[in-house]
Amino acid sequence: MTQDELKQAAAEAALAFVVEDSIVGVGTGSTANYFIDGLGRMKDRIRGAVASSDASAQRLAGHGIALFDLNDVTELPVYVDGADEIDGSLAMIKGGGAALTREKIVAAVAGRFVCICDASKRVATLGRFPLPVEVIPMARAQVARALTALGGRPVWREGVVTDNGNLILDVHDLSITDPVGLESEINQIVGVVTNGLFARRGADTLLLAAPGGVQRID
Ligand code: 5RP
Repeated sequence: MTQDELKQAAAEAALAFVVEDSIVGVGTGSTANYFIDGLGRMKDRIRGAVASSDASAQRLAGHGIALFDLNDVTELPVYVDGADEIDGSLAMIKGGGAALTREKIVAAVAGRFVCICDASKRVATLGRFPLPVEVIPMARAQVARALTALGGRPVWREGVVTDNGNLILDVHDLSITDPVGLESEINQIVGVVTNGLFARRGADTLLLAAPGGVQRID
């Protein structure tokens, strides 16, 4: 199976977690896109969706799925999204698609975070994938210096502007043995909007697709 077929298999498995007549939280990226396409087939059985990015909102709308503003939603039973890396405690690195801030906000409201991944995303220790950090533009250099002091090697993702009008620094060379601690520490740097560690609120369920099938890990 190709990596794309594995992503699709994980996304299809997540459809079983969608609660009838509910509003669904929807992530961003190529794996989430497969989920959106599947959701399109069952759009008559849901009220609609909250999107974590403009790109996902567009794809959802293309399927005729009603879009809700998160501020108008009090109950979001399930949020489905991919990840760039996920460890054994279901802590993740996210933000490869620069949507980390909205992803983290929608996930915070959701009752259950279902992470959908192909098996290549599973790691023993987070950090091989550079950690994305969303920063206020005027703080880019100051935040980069602070991230360097933490032992990382921040690289500005030039040309990328987030849906919130901010910039992304990708932090290389981190071996993240304390994801919860590092998530909090980076959040304390003035000028940081969000970092791509999803450890304080990790996934509740991982659907991990390998050639032998989709494994559920809670
Ligand atoms: C976007 C994300 C994505 O979930 C992550 O980058 C995984 O993407 P893909 O499913 O394309 O491999 O965090 O900001």
